[in-house]
Formats: sequence, structure tokens, C-alpha cells
Amino acid sequence: MQNDLAKVLISEDEIIDCCKRLGKQIESDYKDKNPIVVGLLKGCEPFMSDLIKNINTYIRTDYMDCSSYNGTVSTGSIIIKKDLDEDVSGQDVIIVDDIIDSGATLYEIVDILKKRGAKSVKTCVLLSKDVKRKFDLHVDYVGTTVPNEFVVGYGLDFNEAYRNLPYIGVLKEELYK
Ligand code: IMP
Ligand code: MG
Repeated sequence: MQNDLAKVLISEDEIIDCCKRLGKQIESDYKDKNPIVVGLLKGCEPFMSDLIKNINTYIRTDYMDCSSYNGTVSTGSIIIKKDLDEDVSGQDVIIVDDIIDSGATLYEIVDILKKRGAKSVKTCVLLSKDVKRKFDLHVDYVGTTVPNEFVVGYGLDFNEAYRNLPYIGVLKEELYK
């Protein structure tokens, strides 16, 4: 599996530092608010798990599965495959995803949750891809920036593989081109 990577971009230690920093920020911003932290499956999985361990205040968790991605090209529209269990009306919500690329996914989910009456909706991603966004969206909590390359590991997949790598790397181009 490791041999499929052109290079490692973000080490396990760097990821853990991001989770600690973002967790502490969220903790201080949401003291006494009991927000719902909404993970976007499946990419959020390792990040969500490490992030929430660093938020030392009352939170609730919930999950949505809304993929917009087929292979390596963003299609720009989402399908809800699994919806939330919780009613977000009147609630403070933080959406957690692995990466923002075009912004389509987060833009649409923010819109959906606001229309459902959420009191506030903020966004948190581990990675922000260094591209000109197709959707104008402010991300409230960003772990780190990655270049415009296809990355895998720590939740990020290529056709469902590589999510279990403990770090983030660039996939060799010959594997998807
Ligand atoms: P967006 O909707 O274009 O912002 O894309 C966001 C979603 O696309 C993320 O939740 C990921 O699942 C997926 N994605 C975007 N870039 C990559 C990548 O480099 N590797 C793996 N998945 C990616
Ligand atoms: Mg995703």
C-alpha cells in the first residue's frame, strides 16, 4: 500500500498536532453550547475520532453520508446516502470533513442544515486543497493546506482504498490516470 504513494505529505505527528489545535479552538468557542458535531462519512472517520478526543466540553456526535465523489473527479452535486439521526433545528452544528476541494459538498450540506433551522452551522476540515474554489465558502476550522494533488490516507480514499493509512500522501498518478 505504501508503495502506491509518490510521497508522504502529512505525517502522523502533524495530523495529531492539527487535531489538538482544532479541538482546543472548538472547545473554547463552544463552551456551554453543547453543539452537534456532524461527521461526513466515510472520509471524516479517523479525523472525527481524533478531533473529538481533543474537545473537552459537552458535545453530541452524528453522521451523514453525502458523497459527491466518483474516483478522482468532483461531480459538484451531492446525494444523501445516510441522513442525520438528530433534529438540528435550533442547534449549533459543526460539520467535520476530511478535505475541502471545490467546496461543493460543504456548501450544500451547510445550506441543507440551515434550511432545517440550525441555529448556527460552522465547518471544520483537516485539509484544504490549494485550489480556486468553485463554491465560495468560508471554512471555520482548517487543519492544514495541501497542494492541488490527489491525496489519500487517514480517511481519504481512492475507490475506497487507503483510508486506513495513518498519514496522508500523494497517490502515484499512474494509479488513477
Ligand atoms: P468537494 O465537494 O469538491 O469540496 O470535495 C470534497 C470531497 O471530495 C471530500 O469529502 C473527499 O471525500 C473528496 N476529495 C476531494 N479531494 C480529494 C482527494 O485529494 N483525495 C480523496 N478524496 C478527495
Ligand atoms: Mg468525503
